[in-house]
Amino acid sequence: MQLSPSDPCVSCNRRSLMRSASSTRLLADAMGRITPSPTVSISTKARTLKANGRDVIIMSQGEPDLDTPDNVKEAAIAAIRRGETKYTDPDGMPYLKKAIARKFRLENALEYQPDQITVGTGGKQVLFNAICASVNAGDEVIIPAPYWVSYADIVRFAGGTPIIVETRPEHGFKLQPDALEQAITPRTKWLLFNAPSNPSGASYDVNDLRLLTDVIIRHRQVWVMTDDIYEHLTYDGYEFVTVAQVEPRLYGRTLTVNGVSKTYSMTGWRIGYAGGPEELIRAVSKLQGQSTNSPNTIAQWAAAEALNGPQDFVRIAKQVFQLRRDLVVSMLNQSKWLSCPMPKGAFYVFPSCAAAIGKTTKSGTVIKTDEDFATSLLEEEGVATVHGAAFGMAPHLRISYTSATGELEEACRRIQRFCANLT
Ligand SMILES: Cc1ncc(COP(=O)(O)O)c(C=O)c1O
Repeated sequence: MQLSPSDPCVSCNRRSLMRSASSTRLLADAMGRITPSPTVSISTKARTLKANGRDVIIMSQGEPDLDTPDNVKEAAIAAIRRGETKYTDPDGMPYLKKAIARKFRLENALEYQPDQITVGTGGKQVLFNAICASVNAGDEVIIPAPYWVSYADIVRFAGGTPIIVETRPEHGFKLQPDALEQAITPRTKWLLFNAPSNPSGASYDVNDLRLLTDVIIRHRQVWVMTDDIYEHLTYDGYEFVTVAQVEPRLYGRTLTVNGVSKTYSMTGWRIGYAGGPEELIRAVSKLQGQSTNSPNTIAQWAAAEALNGPQDFVRIAKQVFQLRRDLVVSMLNQSKWLSCPMPKGAFYVFPSCAAAIGKTTKSGTVIKTDEDFATSLLEEEGVATVHGAAFGMAPHLRISYTSATGELEEACRRIQRFCANLT
């Protein structure tokens, strides 16, 4: 008897062969230490619902809706026409490094030479490489919560131990110096610092930062990885400052990470960069040289134009986001059961839904956690948000205001209705 490949016995056999192969442990132990990014999973679920005809408003994504500025697009097109389509140095081309050095000098009063700068495929890759290049098993990395979803997983992947330090809404979600002091041990390698913060928008002025740098300076084993990716999205006159700028004695112990994704609406171009101590930069570049090699050449030319070219876009984007923030905070605070602080930076709000825990939705679901809240909100009202637990702080929601005003208004009306229906 001849069996065709679609015969049930053949496919059974294949499945059992696959099962026995998987029992020989295909995957690395490190894979068991990480989870899929919840922000990516929720946004994918929302997009699938939308593609299937559901009316869904996506407020779960961490990317600006504004288009990349034209001068940046033109620079990319010109690079293609000139034939700039080959590999560059693994850690970025000299022209872009020069533009980054200029940016650090003019905007952050930091002097980095080209061999102190590395360019990667997004800020995410730079952070990933820097952690993998520096963290040994058992090293501790202090991460203030709520934190960007990837930090803790990257640290775990590298074999390190994330030490999560909770912040409080009444402190504007800012890390307090005494909490930092208590978290430091002889095994502490890094403070992984992000401001303005994703998801809380926490923003530190010079005095806030100095209180933290005063602690770090006393502990010589502690390095600072500062993720400044939301540097330009600041509101109400708040002026961004970065760690090595505030405490020059930490210059040699700080990796200053940044990128063009959020500032210039260039998330899909995938260019991030960092300035820091030569030894670490060399290690990051070595790792990159053995994995992805150079970042996309055309995107590097575009990023150089973003940094060197006119900066009007940055000013306009900031105004747009500030208006949207005001609208969203005001409408969320009019929702029963939600309480939403006013952030000074980034493009997220992080309201508490503590008062909604224990309530029942219109369709009869009891809300036990912030994840239940976010799931029911998506199912019943078609609004995608991310639960705070994904960022290490519950019960909260992270809501991005990266959609047009009309859509934000509609989403907030739906959230108000969802909350009003809770009993
Ligand atoms: C805090 C933070 N850091 C880094 C990144 C990475 O950005 P990219 O890899 O697009 O440069 C993000 C993106 O969401 C972020 O929110």
